[in-house]
Amino acid sequence: MKKLALIGLSVSLLFFAAYPSLRNTQLGSCVVYAFGSFREVAQERSERFLGKVFEDTARCRGGEESVKWRTTAWVDWQRYWATGAEESRSTGLISKLGFWSPNRRGVAGALLDMEYQRIELLRFNLFDNSGTFEEYVRGRNGTAGSAIKIWPQLRLPRGHSAYVDVGGDGPQRCQGELIRFRNLTGICNDITNPLMGSTDQPFARNVPFDATFPDLGKNEIVINRHGDRLGLLQPDPQVISRKLFSRAQAPNNNCHDAHGLAGYVPEANCDYQKAPVLNVLAAFWIQFMTHDWFSHLEEGHNQSELMAMGCSTPDVNNGQTPLSAKEVQQLRCRPEDRVDKSYIAADKPPVTFTHEGNQHLTRAHKTTLNKVTAWWDASQVYGYNDLSGKRVKRDPNDPAKLLLEPVITRAQEVIGYLPLLQPSDYTNPQWSGQESVAFPDNWNIGLSFFHNVFAREHNIFVDAFRQQAAAFPEDDSGLRNPANPTAVIRYKDVTPDELFEVARLVVAAEIAKIHTIEWTPQLLYNEPVYLAMNANWSGLVSKHPLVENALEKALARLAKSSSGKAAAWYSVFATGPGIIGLGNNKADVNGGVNHFGSPFNFPEEFVTVYRLHSMVPDLIEFRELRSDPNVIRYKIPVVETLQGKATQAVHLYGLADWALSMGRQRLGKLTLQNHPLFLQSLSMPRLKSATGQIDVPALDIIRDREHGVPRYNEFRRQYGLKQLTSFDDFIDPTLSKNSPERVRQLQIAGLLREVYGQHKCEDSKIITTAQVDSDGAKITDCLGHPNGSMVDNIEDVDAVVGWLAEFARPHGFAISETQFQVFILNASRRLFSDRFFTSSFRPEFYTHFGFKWVNENGPDGVIKETGESNGHQIEVSPLKRVLQRTIPELKSELEPVVNGFDPWARDRGDYYSLQWRPRPGAESDVAFRD
Ligand code: HEM
Repeated sequence: MKKLALIGLSVSLLFFAAYPSLRNTQLGSCVVYAFGSFREVAQERSERFLGKVFEDTARCRGGEESVKWRTTAWVDWQRYWATGAEESRSTGLISKLGFWSPNRRGVAGALLDMEYQRIELLRFNLFDNSGTFEEYVRGRNGTAGSAIKIWPQLRLPRGHSAYVDVGGDGPQRCQGELIRFRNLTGICNDITNPLMGSTDQPFARNVPFDATFPDLGKNEIVINRHGDRLGLLQPDPQVISRKLFSRAQAPNNNCHDAHGLAGYVPEANCDYQKAPVLNVLAAFWIQFMTHDWFSHLEEGHNQSELMAMGCSTPDVNNGQTPLSAKEVQQLRCRPEDRVDKSYIAADKPPVTFTHEGNQHLTRAHKTTLNKVTAWWDASQVYGYNDLSGKRVKRDPNDPAKLLLEPVITRAQEVIGYLPLLQPSDYTNPQWSGQESVAFPDNWNIGLSFFHNVFAREHNIFVDAFRQQAAAFPEDDSGLRNPANPTAVIRYKDVTPDELFEVARLVVAAEIAKIHTIEWTPQLLYNEPVYLAMNANWSGLVSKHPLVENALEKALARLAKSSSGKAAAWYSVFATGPGIIGLGNNKADVNGGVNHFGSPFNFPEEFVTVYRLHSMVPDLIEFRELRSDPNVIRYKIPVVETLQGKATQAVHLYGLADWALSMGRQRLGKLTLQNHPLFLQSLSMPRLKSATGQIDVPALDIIRDREHGVPRYNEFRRQYGLKQLTSFDDFIDPTLSKNSPERVRQLQIAGLLREVYGQHKCEDSKIITTAQVDSDGAKITDCLGHPNGSMVDNIEDVDAVVGWLAEFARPHGFAISETQFQVFILNASRRLFSDRFFTSSFRPEFYTHFGFKWVNENGPDGVIKETGESNGHQIEVSPLKRVLQRTIPELKSELEPVVNGFDPWARDRGDYYSLQWRPRPGAESDVAFRD
């Protein structure tokens, strides 16, 4: 021991003697970093991490490139070693130093930064709108608010059909049939808070209530920040759409306003900026997901009252001057467009309370309801209320199955398709002729595709289960009935109704798994996110040493803090996230969930960052499997594949050709000037307005304003990211001075200035309480610029516009870092909070057969890919396995596919390459001529 101490002392002395010459070298910085430059986890909002590390930390993890990046607004980890493509990795002898290699330091450092962000987000960004917030702040009977687990507001109300079953007026606890499976309306996922996450619960917030609804100008800070420049239609949403969202078209490209050419001949082209490593399936996948998680609309409607949608004023600086007829014509916007107003649940002034000298609101200025279950329960497929449940047709010959009907496609398919809606199934005439599914709104070719695929998967599971039951009828299925929990239910005893519900659990978990370990790592294509997402799904405890190490370090800082709350927080994290956290070993079927003191629902801000309309192309490059898949046969306008036409298109060509076509085509980049043309003129006859059309990208802006989402800069500050100080801050700092891309970005900054304007700043006006500047001073209207100077109205930029304008992004990020920050918090929470992904993820609910199916991606055991991908030995992906089962015709096309959302004919190349090159066999694919 003594010897070790002596060695340690000598090494330290040697280091400090040599320090002047080692200073500002990687070795010197790494020693400083290793011996104590870990940052504390913030106790106060103003001390947050902001994704910015100390200089030595940056140098140790990424060299001088990473040090330089510290002066930008963007998070530091994206410049660490090995967080990008091959060229971000250090090579040579040093890279072989295992844990001490720069690559390892870089990736581990990035994971640690993300973990700090997550801890701070959980601490500072949870604001429940259902009435629990006062106790969250004050605590209850000596328990810290963050450790409260049961809330009276989440009891079932008197009159609810399950009121008596859960305990009525006494303590409520779900039991019996109510806890066996996922319930239609989402009640009883949390056994002691029956109402949590169920249909019609209020959307939560991720920002303090007084930061919501900036348009209302409810306090001095907000007025200082925005003056009188904001309104529902100010700056004008259609002007924003036309100037900042429209896709530029090359002359004579035969786009014809997104309608292409007659006969859908492939000579048509609608230009769009393409994301390098994501396919069109990925776009419709995320729409399919959002329909499961949230909806502001009921049966595709908002309120009956209509409102204007802009196309009236040119820009902020010209105030109320109306657009001239010529400007309207030039912009191609429509002053006569009308849309139905958003539903609002509560708009009376919220009650306030005072705690430790600070006044708080008990909820946001207005609230809205989530019209579907917030759980990841495949409610878009299986239903979320009575009417949607009626649309889910069960097979009369086998009620464990969904009804699928044979359709003779051009390819003579044999497996069935979903049946059509019957008039009594819906209230929205626009849905006539579509497939009967629980969530039929904004129906299109991609939604039709995924609904049919997962309906098939449901039935394939049922068939396989029945085979198992036939082979081993006396075996314990694993399933238990809480009414008699010790009684074994044999395979042969599982009833059709039970099997239907088990299949639903399995399908929902498969979907969650595909999203977590396949869609997300392709959307955020780099090594740290790959590791983080796999850990998020399969648990930190043993499988992912790098992630585990990052979490341990972050927790150590948290535990060191003297605050009384720290112990509660520590225990919260010790339960472990993900599907196999420590929590699910507990005997209590509810014991593994964690809501962090704030009941689970998605926040409004989460909806905002899923407004991903620019992912959708205008034309689909249609291919046929039975001839040469490398040939584009048709360019089919997406607008011709909406609602009932989607159903017709799927029935005509069959799922296999649509899979091939959407699997190979790249989706639209999430950036400015890249929204689909057809969505700017979407037909909406149900509104009976003069134009019968709406501009959906403009509506994205309007809805966020109606829902009180903070504008972009305050949004970033509230989420613990650095603010911007001018429109020029959006420009990617890595670009060389005269590069054409930099020129383009400068032009866009100019357009932002044109639309949002500038004003003469006043340094005496404090504009936020979310952060202070780097000197600890309050942030003012001048954002660091001299008092009285003209500054950009960066504070007014709508959140969606801002995150689309982020040109600087971590490697492989299809989304911006601002959106990612929202995901870090909410993507973890939707797993942490759901009993069926934590403590009730076990055979008593899923059966042994279903549990294995989810863990091994199907009935045939774990199957590995032959090669490695990005240096990892990987399993055949869960989506690929689902597609192989549900669309067997895809067998050979899928063989080389590693991730179902990577364009199927792309050569994935080396370490996280973004190249657009064909894989062997696809050299003649015309898509690679771009
Ligand atoms: C053909 C494709 C699509 C069509 C026709 C479509 C249409 C629409 C329309 C009309 C709305 C406005 C509803 C309202 O507030 O009144 C909307 C909202 C929305 N869309 Fe899309 N959309 C499409 C694709 C997508 C995709 C690919 C995503 C990706 C996630 C997406 C995400 C959203 C979100 C998050 C909302 C807000 C929903 C809410 O507030 O509940 N959409 N869409």
